[in-house]
Amino acid sequence: MPPSDSPSNQIQNVMREERLFPPPAELSANSAIGSMEAYQELYAKSTADPVAFWSDLAKEELHWFEPFQEGLVWEEPVAKWFVGGKTNVSYNCLDRNIEKGLGDKTAIIWEGEPGDAKTLTFKELHTEVCRFSNVLKKLGVEEGDVVSIYMPMTPELAIAMLACARVGAVHSVVFGGFSSEALAERNRDANAKVQLTADGGWRRGKVLPLKETVDEALEKSPSVEHCIVLKRCENEITMKEGRDHWWHDLLEEVDADCPATPLDSETPLFILYTSGSTGKPKGIKHTTAGYNLYAKKTFEWVFDHQQDDIYWCTADCGWITGHSYVVYGPLSAGATTLLYEGAPNHPEPDRFWDLVEKYKVTLFYTAPTAVRAFIKWGDEWVEKHDLSSLRVLGSVGEGINPEAWMWYYEKIGGGKCPIVDTWWQTETGGIMMSPLPGATPLKPGSCTKPLPGIIPAIVDETGEPVEPGFGGMLVITHPWPGMLRGLWGDMERYQETYWAKIPHNYLAGDNARQDEDGYYWIMGRIDDVINVSGHRLSTIEVESALVSHDKVAEAAAIGRPDDLTGQAISVFVTLKDAEPSEELKKALKLHVRHEIGALAVPADIHFAVALPKTRSGKIMRRLLRDIASGKEEVGDTSTLEDYTVLAKLREKDES
Ligand code: PRX
Repeated sequence: MPPSDSPSNQIQNVMREERLFPPPAELSANSAIGSMEAYQELYAKSTADPVAFWSDLAKEELHWFEPFQEGLVWEEPVAKWFVGGKTNVSYNCLDRNIEKGLGDKTAIIWEGEPGDAKTLTFKELHTEVCRFSNVLKKLGVEEGDVVSIYMPMTPELAIAMLACARVGAVHSVVFGGFSSEALAERNRDANAKVQLTADGGWRRGKVLPLKETVDEALEKSPSVEHCIVLKRCENEITMKEGRDHWWHDLLEEVDADCPATPLDSETPLFILYTSGSTGKPKGIKHTTAGYNLYAKKTFEWVFDHQQDDIYWCTADCGWITGHSYVVYGPLSAGATTLLYEGAPNHPEPDRFWDLVEKYKVTLFYTAPTAVRAFIKWGDEWVEKHDLSSLRVLGSVGEGINPEAWMWYYEKIGGGKCPIVDTWWQTETGGIMMSPLPGATPLKPGSCTKPLPGIIPAIVDETGEPVEPGFGGMLVITHPWPGMLRGLWGDMERYQETYWAKIPHNYLAGDNARQDEDGYYWIMGRIDDVINVSGHRLSTIEVESALVSHDKVAEAAAIGRPDDLTGQAISVFVTLKDAEPSEELKKALKLHVRHEIGALAVPADIHFAVALPKTRSGKIMRRLLRDIASGKEEVGDTSTLEDYTVLAKLREKDES
């Protein structure tokens, strides 16, 4: 039980997790960082002088048209890494690997949802990227111009990103599930000049009419001059004379000779919009050299990448995970990266496992929301497949509840694959905290330790470190190469959001605690803390207790106003294959009492058919808070994946 006299501004730790999984000996033996001692040595070296550490790596790991003069110029909150150097991300992903002899190695394995497939070697990818770079140039795209990308997960999406990088254009990828309104808003904010899209994309056997959405968006995106359309689904679309061009027609008019433009280290590489808790989306800005180095090294460290690996990250390129760990990280490391277009349950709930078996995937990276869906769909879908090729599993996007972690470890990894629970953000550019597969003993639910060169701290409102074992705000105390360089067109909001609250520290917006072994546990967003009678509890701990009950598939815990206790815990629960009942509610309350203690027992339990999630799969607790506190109108729902979920939740409440 947590002590009752805990400091009032610190969050209590109520989770007990004592399982420990050491790395498999064989994996450690073959791994670049093969023991905790090796990690600690590297970490100590990296933090003694982070700028020297990153500068040495940058010299070795990237190609330089012109060398940089200075590692870091830091004028808080503006960072410039590898100042004065000239490089090119597309060159580092393609030309450099070909020079190293990897030209005939498979760079991209792609499978479309209907089952069509394609592979591209580094040489072939290089040719495609050069040709598309020439298309962009032909349409007048110049260094610094913004290209908006709204496409299905096809090789052409990666080709387009790399082509922008090659000519110094800035891409803004918008996930294909966003509405025309959302796309238009992002296009206007970024002042996009060219739009890339496809006629459609496949999703659960249906055609997503992407071009139709783009047509609506372009009505409200005055800066867009050209729209290039990939033929994917052959669905009927309208082409606007003068503005719209077929991808394949333009390709015919260009050749495959396009040397990469030498670009200043701080040339913007991309903008990626992410929802703020309120108001308009934030255009996170990443630049060239620092981001490239960070994506490459973190990919190699975290996945223990070996040259014969087949790596699959299931994220869409519309998210930062798709940028850093589908495209830029793996390709600059010379890895083979798999792209899959469609849904995990099409035509059946075993599509992912079918792909793992078929392509002998060795490194697999997905999100907790997917893991929870697989658990719900049943083990039989997994058991049909031979998953023995897998070596390392990864998790990203949310905390993974320890019971979901155990299922992932045993059912998917066969008890032999380390799970790298990676904590990071769109803003951080790459993974910040994660186990290293050959080194770190794992604790289910913990992202374990910071990566080399990353110095986190956990502080209270005044910026003072919290007492060991208690939760507080997670900050990063020193700049790192992958960090965002600002918010597109709004440096003031950048300063305010990330640098104002705790002076001289990057505020991540998450709460975390460190345990007695120095392991980090992410406790959820700062705004999501629940305060019951002065006890500050984190959402994930209550949720993990519920998910450890064998009838519960997913859970979301929130605080709703309560006259007596300040806030009361209200939980929303989806069930595996059980029926909702008053008895089950009682059983769940007892279960939480047993797992955590009386202070965490939910005041009310709502059974739900589904939970409201963002399009990237995160539970939107903010909307649940509005519902639980009886608000008629809920806040901004533009990032909500499925609008019908809210109505269903309300119906349930009224019954
Ligand atoms: O709250 C943390 C959660 O996701 C946030 C970042 O979201 P986004 O910018 O969409 O990036 C997603 C891909 C990195 C974080 O502030 N989060 C992400 N990974 C974890 C996590 N929470 C707990 N554990 C994680 N491994």
